[in-house]
Formats: sequence, structure tokens, C-alpha cells
Amino acid sequence: MPATVIVGTQWGDEGKGKIVDYYAERSDYVVRYNGGSNAGHTIMVGKDVFKFHLMPSGAVQNKEVVIGNGVVVDPKILLDEIALLGSKGHIPKLHISDRAAVVMPYHKMLDGIEERLRSEKIGTTGRGIGPSYSDKIARLGIRMCDLLDSRTLKEKLEFLIMAKQKMLDAYGASTKLDFETIFKEYLEYGSKLAGYVCDTSKLINDALDAGKNVLFEGAQGTMLDVDFGTYPYTTSSNPIAGGVCTGAGVGPTKIDDIIGVVKAYTTRVGEGPMPTELKDEVGKHLLEKGKEYGTTTGRPRRCGWLDLAVVKYAIMLSDIRKLAITKLDVLSGLHGIRVCTGYRIDGREYDIPPANIGEFARCQPVYREFKGFGDITGARSWGDLPEEAKKYLRFVQEFAGVKIVLVSTGPERHQTIKI
Ligand code: IMP
Repeated sequence: MPATVIVGTQWGDEGKGKIVDYYAERSDYVVRYNGGSNAGHTIMVGKDVFKFHLMPSGAVQNKEVVIGNGVVVDPKILLDEIALLGSKGHIPKLHISDRAAVVMPYHKMLDGIEERLRSEKIGTTGRGIGPSYSDKIARLGIRMCDLLDSRTLKEKLEFLIMAKQKMLDAYGASTKLDFETIFKEYLEYGSKLAGYVCDTSKLINDALDAGKNVLFEGAQGTMLDVDFGTYPYTTSSNPIAGGVCTGAGVGPTKIDDIIGVVKAYTTRVGEGPMPTELKDEVGKHLLEKGKEYGTTTGRPRRCGWLDLAVVKYAIMLSDIRKLAITKLDVLSGLHGIRVCTGYRIDGREYDIPPANIGEFARCQPVYREFKGFGDITGARSWGDLPEEAKKYLRFVQEFAGVKIVLVSTGPERHQTIKI
């Protein structure tokens, strides 16, 4: 290990949860460095099912879990998750960055209003993510340390409530923000979370210096990255591996390993171009067999063939050294399988996604065809896989130029092939 990053190579929902769970077992720390409660992962421990949005994976494995400064924290959601864990006898060893931005009620209101007013919808999760990051960058954010300091919170909030009320009024919203209510509510969140708040960058760097294993858990995926994704149909943070440096306060040379998670097909929630999207029976097969419904919003995900141009782009951006392939079993039962290796636009060829969103929307995928394969849910080793599945994986590995180290063939922990 010692510092390992798990990155989503597509549009999020790559099945990172299971891969993080696998690596978390041998980690001392699990760190979130980007996103907020727009993320969602389900963890099963015996009969207990935990659905988390903010809590890093590893909380139920008794690991030190860290919410880095790059995360936007909705304190109410986090407290609910702490309470849920507590009700099942788990006391998380949680650390929250004192520098992390706080999601405020007006962020969620503005997220909804701005989404409704846009002519081209993004399809956000409505969790206030974009407005929170905007305020952070505009230096109008409230940080976790402010919730522990009533004077600073009061000063900042008085101005912010006035400014945000003007915005809401200008948008024609009827909502009236009440300073006293919000001030009291957030001060209380601060007092409940105070024991977890610290300088997490120092904590993580000390842990790395002491030879501990630290796992950085990326939320969302490369194509949702605000700089490199399908802008403006992205989230507002940097899920790529570089996000670890700014979102956790760790220097780039301290990172030892970067693992890219690739779902064996492509999905995307929300709007924006997706060249390999399938609106036919195969798309339906992937949706139903893959249970492709959003953890945070419940929305059905758009499904399509694996887009290796996207994966190659992700490998380049994050310097991914190993690949974990998830949900290979979902492809079983299909007669033929396609993989996109690049695009054609107006007679020109592209091997990675273009920046111009209009061009990306006009991309025609160039496909390679493979034969289908049968049930693989029982496969426990490379040798157990049918030849056609091996051919598919070999092609992915060769095209990507990165070694596949894990293949997931079902939701259970034991349904994982280590290569
Ligand atoms: P936001 O992050 O709520 O602003 O949403 C922006 C875009 O990112 C929307 O298309 C969302 O559906 C998508 N998105 C945000 N979080 C996730 C995630 O965890 N998985 C998949 N898509 C996400």
C-alpha cells in the first residue's frame, strides 16, 4: 500500500464501494477527499444494511475514517449516519477536517432553484453540492471550524443570510431565511460534531510517516470531474487522483498506488452526453440485471456499452496503475458484447473525449465486437471464467495498457477474482 487511491474511471457508480471494502480491510485509515452527500454506498454487515452518503467506507470495519477538507459536509446527514451506526453498536473512529466546507440550508434551496431555471438541466442530486463548492471558492463558505466558534459563525452567517436572501428574492423564491433558527441549528451541529473535528491533513501525514496504510476513497468518477469531465454536466469537485492532494492535504509524491475502478459497461445518472448509451433491449438488460438505480436519488441510470476511450482518458488523468473490473456478471446472457475504442465526429477520429460538449454529444462510437458468455457468478479464479469472458478482459487490459488485478463477478465479497 501505504497510500492508495481508488478512483472511478467513468461517470460514478462503478462499484467502487466493493473495491474500497476489499482494500479497506488491509488499511488503517480510509479517507474521503471529494464530494459530499451526493455520493452513496451501501454496506452490508451480516443482516444489517447501511446506506451512507458521507461516512467513509471502513467505518464498520473499525478503521480510522476521515472526511478530508475537500469534502462538503452536510452536518445533519453526517449526524444521522453516526446515529445509525451507533444504533447497531458501531462507534465510528471518525475525523472531520476543520477546513471542510459546510453545506447550509440555502445551498440546497439554490441547488433546486438554479436547476429548475436552467434551460439545459444537469440533473443534480439536489444536495446543495454545487452552491457549497461555489461559496467555498468565492470565499463565502462556512467551514467546520466555524461551527465550533459562535462569534465567527454569527459574523459570517449574518452577512451570508442577508446575501443569500437577496439571491432567493431575485430568483422569485418565497422562502424567508431566519438567521436565529439557522444559527442555533448549526451551532448545535457544531457542538455534537466537535469531538470529531481536527486538522486531518496533519493526521493523515503523520499516519503515512508512521508507516500506516491509508486508503483514499474517491467519490463520483472521472467524467464527473469539474475540470476534466463532461462540463457542465459534472459535479463540482475533483474525483481524479489529483483531488487527493488538494482534498486531503497530501503531497503527490506520497501516493504509492492508484487503482481505477471500471464497470464492465457504462452508466450515468443525470443529463449530458454518453456516446455508448443504449435505449434498446440490451440497455434494459443492463439496467435490470445490474440493478442500476441511484443510491442517493433512486433514479434509473442510463446504461450502455463499455467506453474504453473514457477509461483510457481516466487512466491518463490519474496515472492509474491497476484496474479493478466490476459487474462483469451483468454482461452474461447477452449474445454479443461491444466495447467502444474511440469516436468519430464529422469524419474526424478521437481517442479521448473532446472538451467541447457539443462535439462530445455528436461523437459516434467506434466499436469492437465480442461474443457473449454465460453465467460467471460462481467463478472464483481466472481459470473458472469462460474463454469469451477472458478474451473480453484481455482486450480491456491490452487496450488500457494497465493490469487488471481484480474482477468482480457478483455483489458478495467472495465473488471477487484476484489476478
Ligand atoms: P451534483 O453533484 O449533485 O451537483 O450532481 C451533478 C451531476 O453529478 C449529476 O448528473 C449527478 O447525477 C451526478 N452525480 C453526483 N454524484 C454522483 C454519484 O455519486 N454517482 C453518480 N452520479 C453522481
